[in-house]
Amino acid sequence: MFSSGADASDGASSQGYRNWNVTTLSFFLGEHVDVYFIHFILSTLLVATVLSWLVTWFSERMRCIRMLETLPGPSLELPNNAFTPHAWLAHLPLAVDFSGENPIPGYPGLARSVDNLIQLHKQFSQQEGIMRLWILNPFKLTPFAQVMVFVTDPEMVQQVLKAKDISKNVIKQADIYRLCKALAGDSLLEILEDTPRWKHQRKLTALGMHQSLLEHTNSEIIKLLYETVFPQWDGTTSTAETFTMEAGEWCTRLVAEILGIVAFSQSFGGLESEATNTDNNKQSLYDLFKNLQFIITKRSLRPPFLIPFYIKENKEFKQCQDKLNNVIKSIVEERVAQHEEAKTRQQDNDTTKRKHQSLGEFNDLLSYLMMEDEDDDRYRLTEKELLGNVRMFLFAGQDTSAIVLSQTLYELATHQSTQLRLQKEVDALFAQFDSPDHQPAYKDIMRLEYLDAVTKEALRLHSPAGVARRNTVDIKLTRGDCAYSIPKGSNIFVYPFLTGLGAGQNNDDLDEFIPERFLKEDRGNHILGRPESCYMPFSIGPRNCVGHPLATAEIKVVLAHLVHRYTVRKTEGSEEPIKMMQITVKPHQIMLNFERRHC
Ligand code: HEM
Repeated sequence: MFSSGADASDGASSQGYRNWNVTTLSFFLGEHVDVYFIHFILSTLLVATVLSWLVTWFSERMRCIRMLETLPGPSLELPNNAFTPHAWLAHLPLAVDFSGENPIPGYPGLARSVDNLIQLHKQFSQQEGIMRLWILNPFKLTPFAQVMVFVTDPEMVQQVLKAKDISKNVIKQADIYRLCKALAGDSLLEILEDTPRWKHQRKLTALGMHQSLLEHTNSEIIKLLYETVFPQWDGTTSTAETFTMEAGEWCTRLVAEILGIVAFSQSFGGLESEATNTDNNKQSLYDLFKNLQFIITKRSLRPPFLIPFYIKENKEFKQCQDKLNNVIKSIVEERVAQHEEAKTRQQDNDTTKRKHQSLGEFNDLLSYLMMEDEDDDRYRLTEKELLGNVRMFLFAGQDTSAIVLSQTLYELATHQSTQLRLQKEVDALFAQFDSPDHQPAYKDIMRLEYLDAVTKEALRLHSPAGVARRNTVDIKLTRGDCAYSIPKGSNIFVYPFLTGLGAGQNNDDLDEFIPERFLKEDRGNHILGRPESCYMPFSIGPRNCVGHPLATAEIKVVLAHLVHRYTVRKTEGSEEPIKMMQITVKPHQIMLNFERRHC
């Protein structure tokens, strides 16, 4: 038994508190329990709980590190390099240029991370199909150190993204989408899990990618090229027959304009010369996306708690974000008003119940997103979601297709025999059509086999989009007799341009641009790396790219008309474009000569 040694000099309130403690605790533990003893027990319990949590955390962390260290990957530089500041960020200097020795012009602070990643892939993951990097801290036991697991073997990518038993425990990586909220927030791309809300938005978008949208895309591209672009270019080339252009920015402006028209029935005027374009808000869309992407990239390379301290940069970010949202808002508000008007008209004229609300006078992607299902109103898009999806389509749609288009032009300029073969195929088709008013239809272009092979080969090597996931339980990936375990909570990345380089197979020529590998009849004459299994530029599984029919149509139609009218050549002394990691993998600059053909 214990006595309650109360001190008579205690104040009234502490006396009351003690009495309460004693009374309450005595109720549970019996009479004569010393309050100090109770405090001792509680403190001990608290310390024991914290200690046991720490022990559990550290043993779990040790278990994860042991698992991760069985994966191939570079070692950490510490302790040998402990006195170089960037060694403290583990492998992050592969993406951040601390030395300033090899800068990317116009992008201070960014290292040539794509080249670095390709080198690491060749060194560590090409044979085994998987590798890991540590970033932000070299001490793996601390919570600051983060791991990135790159899966590059096509068989293992299938398991992560498609095989039901594994992929059900692999969800979209939340941190990356939080950083990209200004571009992809409130859209179907951002929804992390395969919920009914995602399914509904995905269904509407997939419905929107119908055959007549693609036919419409074909005719709008022809209109843009023959009414706006070629007259401008022919003005430039009237004396020299050749002119030089930065293809990266031009392709982005062209694709944004195509997307504006076919997805939202809006012209952004990005292709018009400055003299004829009066709408500054729309013309600067290209710059807004460029600025936002650069700032998001810089943020992704910093510890999150430092982000609020970049005050000037944050102010610029907010201004770009507001401007972009104003453009999107004006598109959506105008269409919502038209939609409501059409709905009222329809209700006046038609009293029969329809399953789907009419698309009104538009048949673009936005009309499908606004489509209402009268039987099921649960997942109808809110105005916020409508704005989010339009913003995401503009970003995901223009940046990606434009990158592939400009990289394909560069490959054709570098491989003149490929360009000649493509021109021969395209010229044979165009010979059947004789004027801008009489041009090949979408289905004619889609039938061109060599154009298909060229586009696929460019997509295999230059796919710009990556996939970021997080596994909610430990997973085991297998490849032949080998098995690789990835502990739960790891950041898993799949980059189709790395997967396209093949893993562990006969891949001697897989880093070369050889479209013939996609042609059955040509394969017999060459010993070419087999592309089928490693070709996944639009990702695979349920979260693959829903915009891929539109992207392929845009790239093929533009390419066919360009190579029919011009021969593309490298500029003198030009080097291979630097690839930058800016949410997407994009070329820094692609300077090309365009030479008018007379055929
Ligand atoms: C060459 C062009 C394109 C490439 C290489 C590409 C690639 C990809 C990839 C790899 C993903 C998967 C991302 C992830 O899982 O995190 C994706 C998703 C997506 N893409 Fe594309 N994309 C292209 C063009 C487009 C276009 C033109 C649109 C629409 C106009 C579009 C809309 C989307 C959407 C909405 C998603 C998310 C799908 C979902 O989560 O269900 N993409 N894309």
